[in-house]
Amino acid sequence: MRDVISILDFSKSEVLELFELTDEVLSGKFKPRLEGKIVATAFFEPSTRTALSFTSAALSAGAKVLGFSSDEATSVSKGENLADTIRMLENYADCIVMRHKLDGSAKFAAEIAKKPVINAGDGKREHPTQALIDMYTVRKLFGTMEGLTFGFLGDLRYARTVNSMLRILTMFRPRMVYLISPPQLRARAEILEELNYPVKELTDVRDIIGELDVLYVTRIQRERFLDEDEYEKVKESYRLEYRTVEKMKRDSAILHPLPRVSEIDRRIDSMPQAKYFLEASYAVPLRSALLHEVMAGD
Ligand code: CP
Repeated sequence: MRDVISILDFSKSEVLELFELTDEVLSGKFKPRLEGKIVATAFFEPSTRTALSFTSAALSAGAKVLGFSSDEATSVSKGENLADTIRMLENYADCIVMRHKLDGSAKFAAEIAKKPVINAGDGKREHPTQALIDMYTVRKLFGTMEGLTFGFLGDLRYARTVNSMLRILTMFRPRMVYLISPPQLRARAEILEELNYPVKELTDVRDIIGELDVLYVTRIQRERFLDEDEYEKVKESYRLEYRTVEKMKRDSAILHPLPRVSEIDRRIDSMPQAKYFLEASYAVPLRSALLHEVMAGD
């Protein structure tokens, strides 16, 4: 394995193998060994979880980490372009973990770099390692990833984590996927065209809440709106309420890639369905296993 640009760079069997390796990392049966390797974390957009969990994963495997968390501290602020920045980073590191606001930037970087590039989020396009964490959580909770009923609630137009999740689900034959959003934030047609499972679009999660095994919530991606007025129109257009979750099956799960803003009532955090912090806790073992797969064979 080299670059990780889209979740569809993985076959189903590669996903399952990665999850088995993650199980072994979590249980302590396997410890990734990346001594002598250097990971570059190139974050042109803000991040807490992705940047720091990749850093923690790399450090705990014995690798060294360098990088930046904003382009303001780099020569991009002097006008250097992405291509030249990538050419420099591959002189300094064995693997580049990159987040950038431009759709397609990860693929562009991978075409330039001879070293592996891992997409940590490219614009509104994809966030493949987040989808791996999300599906790993589903597998841990349900013991299967097949035949489940999913609901995706929120900004389905701009949330890259949703695109990667909808794509990974093409490997696992969900029973039904409900896409729940205000009309302005519906999933984009080019994603819907790829899906090989039953999908229904609706606007009110309460209509199907009792059917769901997994409810995946996203915040409104304010940073993707070109027009602030458009954001103002939709910013409070959905919210998951305590009373709605009371109607969920007790063994169902609410996931969220985080960060959350106001789209989940905080009282839900203590309900049995709230699994988003558990989900976040799998980031380091999963990204440790992934870094091992990407770099250990070099
Ligand atoms: N889930 C996620 O990508 O979070 P960060 O933006 O904090 O990395």
